[in-house]
Amino acid sequence: MRNLTQDNITQAVIARFADTPDPRLKEIVTSLVQHLHAFARDVKLTEAEWFQGIEFLTRVGHITDDKRQEFILLSDTLGLSMLTVAMNQEKPQGCTEATVFGPFFVENAPSFDLGDDVSNGAPGIPCLVRGAIRGINGEPVPGAEIQVWQADAQGKYDMQYESHEHKARGVLHADGKGHYHFRSILAEAYPIPDDGPVGDMLRATKRHPWRPAHLHFMITAPGYERLITHVFRNGDSYLDSDAVFGVRQSLIADWVQQPDGNYLVEYDFVLNPERA
Ligand code: BEZ
Ligand code: FE
Repeated sequence: MRNLTQDNITQAVIARFADTPDPRLKEIVTSLVQHLHAFARDVKLTEAEWFQGIEFLTRVGHITDDKRQEFILLSDTLGLSMLTVAMNQEKPQGCTEATVFGPFFVENAPSFDLGDDVSNGAPGIPCLVRGAIRGINGEPVPGAEIQVWQADAQGKYDMQYESHEHKARGVLHADGKGHYHFRSILAEAYPIPDDGPVGDMLRATKRHPWRPAHLHFMITAPGYERLITHVFRNGDSYLDSDAVFGVRQSLIADWVQQPDGNYLVEYDFVLNPERA
């Protein structure tokens, strides 16, 4: 096929994928080509702008390594991560809602016993976190695995420091009644990393990089769907403008200051049964 024009190139490219054996892959590449071409037509993309886009994506790739995941930040700040969560994590009424995973989860976080302090010296005001894990019919989920991770008072996750020591993250298991409690530090609002191309995009579009204060949870138990979510701190001034669009009303809880100055937050999780 020669002498393709702006009017027939899209169909020509799609036809080139006609023999893709995997039907889902074929569906995805076909739709991707259609939408990419439609986007270029819609904004009448110039060659200089296209090259700027290539340079931007190149920078996103160059800054990404095992500690810094700029592609996740890009997906998150464009709302694509939350869109995929919303489309794929619809649950029956009463189940705890899911939200974005984010780039700061690590495998092999240290294990703790109930009641332990997971902060491991991370700076912050002490905070007790407790609650229960239940199923949709109110049944306790004994022994559920709870992974928790959070930023410190300086707005940083442990992996953003040079030392690479695990802090303010850990794995615990609910007790025989599905209850959990652990000590950590007060969750505070923090900016997502904005010293790279995603930060440049936010500045160029007059957007701020802040996330409202939250704790991350990943809860796993046999017979239930894995839940990846946050608990957000009520009263935070960024709840309505989260840089990554992750806030859901049902995930907001009160962090209550105690007479000794420390904080307490209580949150019960309700898991969705595993789909057949
Ligand atoms: C986080 O909450 O850890 C996070 C989520 C999305 C982008 C950056 C950080
Ligand atoms: Fe976070």
